Amino acid sequence: MINVTRPSMPDFEEYVKEISGIWENHWLTNMGPKHDEFAAKLKEYLNVDHVELMVNGHMAIEMTLQALNLQGEVITTPFTFASTTHAIVRNSLTPVFCDINSDDYTIDVSKIENLITDRTCAILPVHVYGNICDVEGIDRIAKRHGLKVVYDACHAFGETYKGVGVGNFGDASCFSFHATKVFNTIEGGAVVFKSARIGEELYSLKNFGIRGETEVTGVGANAKMNELCAAMGICNLRHNSEEVAKRKIIAKRYRERLSEISGIYLNCEQENVEYNYGYFPIRIDFKEFGESREEIHDRLLQNGIRARRYFYPLTNTFECFHKRYDVSETPVALHMSKQILTLPIYADLELEDVDRIIDIILSK
Ligand SMILES: Cc1ncc(COP(=O)(O)O)c(C=O)c1O
Repeated sequence: MINVTRPSMPDFEEYVKEISGIWENHWLTNMGPKHDEFAAKLKEYLNVDHVELMVNGHMAIEMTLQALNLQGEVITTPFTFASTTHAIVRNSLTPVFCDINSDDYTIDVSKIENLITDRTCAILPVHVYGNICDVEGIDRIAKRHGLKVVYDACHAFGETYKGVGVGNFGDASCFSFHATKVFNTIEGGAVVFKSARIGEELYSLKNFGIRGETEVTGVGANAKMNELCAAMGICNLRHNSEEVAKRKIIAKRYRERLSEISGIYLNCEQENVEYNYGYFPIRIDFKEFGESREEIHDRLLQNGIRARRYFYPLTNTFECFHKRYDVSETPVALHMSKQILTLPIYADLELEDVDRIIDIILSK
C-alpha cells in the first residue's frame, strides 16, 4: 500500500542518543530541557522572534485565538482541515467564510472587506498546501480595520516568502508537526509571533492557565509538548532540508508528466516562495479529462494507492454545524473541493512508484 504520505523518522540510533539524557534526568514533560532546546533551535531555523511549542497544531491555533482575547467574528476559509474552523468555534467565536482563489486555494483577498462588520475581530487565513496567502493584501486590510491576523501555517513549515520566514507575517502563525507533515515531532505544533505578551499568555494557557505555584490566571488546558516529542523534533530538524530536497524531485516528476494533460490542473507555483513540497494536489475537470475525481481516486485505491480528497467536504458543510453556514457563499471553494485530489508524496517515495501512480491516473 502506498499512502498519501509516510512520516519521516531519524535513524533509530540517532533518536536513542537524543533521548538517553531523559533516562538520566527523569524529566518527561512540563517544559524540560529538550523542550527548551528544541524551541531555541526552531526559533533560529524559522528565523522568527518568538516560538511557543504546543502539543499539536490544533491547540496552537485554538490557544492563539484565546491568547488574543478575541470576541465576535473571524473571517476564514472553508477549504481547510476541520481544525481551522473548529478552533474558531471552540473559542465561542463565529466563523465568517470567505471564498478562495482558484489557482492557489488561499483566501481571496478581494472578497474580505465585504465580509467585515462591526463584530469582526480577526482574519484566520490558511497557507493551503504551502501556497502563501497574499500576506501584503491581508496586512493592509487588517491595519485599515484594526483586525488581528493569525495564519494557519500548518502546511508551510520552513517556507520563505521573498526570502522571509513565513512565520513573520500577521500577529501569529501556527504550525503543525503531526506525523503526516513534512516536519514532525510525532504529534506537535508551535506558534510563532512578534509580541512577547502573546508568548506569556500561551506559556500559561498551555499549562492550565497557571502563572505561579499559587496563581492561576487563565482558563487554560494541557497543550504542552513532552520531552520525547521535542527530542524527535531536534532530530528531524537536522534532516529537514534533505527531506524537502527529496520531495522536490518527486514533485518535479509529477509536474513533468502531468502538466500537459488536458483536464488535469496542477497547483500553481507561486513566485518568491521556497516550497516545502508537503502536498501534491491535482484538480480533475470531469468534462475535459473524461473521468471524475472519484473514479481516479477509486482506481488508485484498487491498485493499493491511497490518494486523498483533501479538502473535501468543505468545513462550512460539516454535519456538526447543522446547516448553520451557507455554502453557496463560497462557490469557488465548493467547486475546488469536488475536483481536488492530493497524490502521494514523501521523501522515500521511489520515482518508479511515482511513474506507476501517474500511469494509473492516465490509464482511463
Ligand atoms: C490546515 C491544517 N490546520 C490545522 C491542522 C491541525 O494540526 P494537528 O493535526 O497537528 O493538530 C492541520 C493538520 O492536521 C492542517 O492541515
